[in-house]
Amino acid sequence: MGKDNFKSKLGIIAATAGSAVGLGNLWGFPYKAGENGGGTFVLIYLLCVVFVGMPVMLSEFIIGRAGQGGPIGSVTKLDGEKSKFLSASYLGTLTSFFILSFYCVIAGWALNYFCTYLAPGFSVFADGNSGEIFGATISDFSTSTFYQIAFMLMTLGVVILGIKNGIEKLTKIMMPVLFGIILLMVFYNFTLSGFGEAVNFLFIPKPPADGSSIFSIAIAALGQAFFSLSIGMGAVITYAQYVDKKEDLSKITFSVVIADTLVAILAGLAIFPIIFSTPGLEPSEGAGLAFVSLTAGFSNMPFGHIIGVIFFALLVIAALTSSVSLLENIVVAVMEKGKLNRKTATFLAAGAATFVGLFCQIGANFQFPLLNFAANSTLIDQLDAFTMQWTIPIGAFIFSIFTGYRLKPEIVREQINNDKIANIFIPYVKVVIPVAIACIFIFGIIG
Ligand code: PHE
Repeated sequence: MGKDNFKSKLGIIAATAGSAVGLGNLWGFPYKAGENGGGTFVLIYLLCVVFVGMPVMLSEFIIGRAGQGGPIGSVTKLDGEKSKFLSASYLGTLTSFFILSFYCVIAGWALNYFCTYLAPGFSVFADGNSGEIFGATISDFSTSTFYQIAFMLMTLGVVILGIKNGIEKLTKIMMPVLFGIILLMVFYNFTLSGFGEAVNFLFIPKPPADGSSIFSIAIAALGQAFFSLSIGMGAVITYAQYVDKKEDLSKITFSVVIADTLVAILAGLAIFPIIFSTPGLEPSEGAGLAFVSLTAGFSNMPFGHIIGVIFFALLVIAALTSSVSLLENIVVAVMEKGKLNRKTATFLAAGAATFVGLFCQIGANFQFPLLNFAANSTLIDQLDAFTMQWTIPIGAFIFSIFTGYRLKPEIVREQINNDKIANIFIPYVKVVIPVAIACIFIFGIIG
């Protein structure tokens, strides 16, 4: 039987862009841009995406297609069972697991809000109530757990079907829908009074107002860029093994990076005009931006109810095309190491991630005393900070060292299949990428 590969180039791009475009773009990017002063963050983010993220993504595509496995299988095949680089593979699997655990909780909130806005008779939250409602939503353990599990079941259902029939089909349908919805929101926002202010906020770099250092903004931007591109944990390696030999990896990487960046920017334009058009709302609201500020905005807008339905549908779709990739990355590792079939591996991985997610539900109100990756924060914030600022950059660093120094240049050239690009890429991934990641990482810690 042939391998369950992607059927078409469009399918590969849809799946990888689907993985990349997620809560990170629609929920994380706007709120982090808002917290870190807007334009300066956006500019550094874009630089990180183009000069660091894109080559790291290409590295992962090369490793996966050459190694024909997930991060563990590929590194083992290319460098042997004793390879030190397997550390990045295991770290990446663990990172995917932690992210999936809290990702389903947040996606569950979005699903919950979607159902609320859609319910017959519901219009919008009463003015001024959206903060309280969000607080009540995340502390209602049984309802939140219900939606968390519902979302996980959707993810599991797709992953069990495999690549062609599950992930490729889902993302080929959903990604165009997602683009359509977000464009609709941005067009609607053109009519709002706050549009100009939002553009100014997002695109004009200004010195950080609260005096936070440029390095702390840079580490936040780098982590956000990696997270958003789904790199640093081997998720792209996992998808790359299903990519046909004849496909051009550089072109695919380029398309995915463009799609992901476009959606992040569009998400900013879908959210900030509403914030700036509503008196009393601040861009620096933080993690509650989409759930608290935006819903307050909906309450004050013509057609706010419909925009609410549309926005939360968007969030759920984007989250689903990402969570399938997180789960697939774990499932492949479990299949490779545990010699299990896809179905058993999927149930195991999804069950375990749901279990850890339950602690995030409790942790939405409870601060875990021993974890301190993010000061005074909940378990979701802890896992988010731990993965984004530590394990993801470390993983990306090791995978790029692997590509630059351990893989034979012939393999890299064969995979890239374009001498001009390979001539630039090989020295770049050897020197520039590790130095750039290390600098941002070290200065970020010191700063
Ligand atoms: N890139 C996704 C987002 O922006 C998150 C993700 C990370 C998905 C890693 C898959 C793998 O939300």
